[in-house]
Amino acid sequence: MKRFFAPGRVNLIGEHLDYNGGLVLPVCIDLGITLTLLERTDGIVTLQSKSHPLTKEISAEDTLEYNSANDWTNYPLGVIQHLREEGYRINGCDLFFESTLPESSGLSSSAALEIVTTFALLQIHRVKLDSVWLANFCKLVENNFIGVQCGIMDQYAIALGRQDQSLLIDCANLSHTYIPFELGDYRLLIMNSKKPRALIHSKYNERKSECEEALKIIHNANHDIHHLCEADPVWLDLITDEVIRKRARHVISENIRVKEAAKFLQMNDLSTFGRLMNASHYSLQVDYEVSGIELDTLVSYAQQIKNCLGARMTGAGFGGCAIAVVHQTAVSEFKEKVADNYFRVTGLTCEIYETKTGDGVHAID
Ligand code: GLA
Repeated sequence: MKRFFAPGRVNLIGEHLDYNGGLVLPVCIDLGITLTLLERTDGIVTLQSKSHPLTKEISAEDTLEYNSANDWTNYPLGVIQHLREEGYRINGCDLFFESTLPESSGLSSSAALEIVTTFALLQIHRVKLDSVWLANFCKLVENNFIGVQCGIMDQYAIALGRQDQSLLIDCANLSHTYIPFELGDYRLLIMNSKKPRALIHSKYNERKSECEEALKIIHNANHDIHHLCEADPVWLDLITDEVIRKRARHVISENIRVKEAAKFLQMNDLSTFGRLMNASHYSLQVDYEVSGIELDTLVSYAQQIKNCLGARMTGAGFGGCAIAVVHQTAVSEFKEKVADNYFRVTGLTCEIYETKTGDGVHAID
């Protein structure tokens, strides 16, 4: 029997930049998915989860295709199918998943599921894994098997994250550096809006095509760049459509904020980092329009609380989670006040957890 763990992630800053060739700055968190793997000799693979009743049994001959009735098992099935297509023979095994990661909350539970499955299956086949390959592979499972056109950030973070470090990923060339993320007397809090994330995929794809449109306009003006994040802010004037210009302004300004954030984290200047978080949220709210009343309520109230250095939504948006950096002495007051205000405004009950950073995918024991 072997056990493996893949964490969830929060992105500290750099939202909706991965598919625009920009910089992102995620950390792995201490919540995640544990996979227990038991080898079998009959070639059958079984899938079971502690939190879902649906189980699945597949044999080597079965062709695997996405099917919504397969629910959570689509993720490991997608991994198995894609590994087969890469030429790997998948030996029989029982896979049992246990999760502490809330699902559909923007903490990357699906990327964690893909990464932990791929990591475990290849480890037992004694394949030496390249982490960037692992991230890319799982992104393709998500894009091609699940049908979600996400960028690389979540899979990359979960494959390569490290405790007490944030991961500065350059999504244009898939390189990274680690930047210390040491909070001292401060704490990283996750505020889960508990808003069901309907329409997220269509809205996400809509933003992607709006960015493609902005890049096309810049190209047509003879600026030869590969990604929107490379654009000079003065080129925004080339874009006459107001919505497209706002989308591009978020992307270009957010990329500048990530560079600043990495610099200030290096200097351990958490106050300036917090102000950049606030500016990032504003841009996502007003220019990119992916936050919504729930995340805005959580974030704007959080930002007003004394000893909260900064707060912003994290991940794709349209519901999901926000994060805040709060002094340890103010954490309980923060939780109570933010939750009360949120309930008063939205009628929803949020969950607020203190989280620690953690390592990326690894074997346990
Ligand atoms: C989701 C996607 C990522 C990224 C973020 C927004 O988490 O899976 O690729 O685009 O949204 O930053």
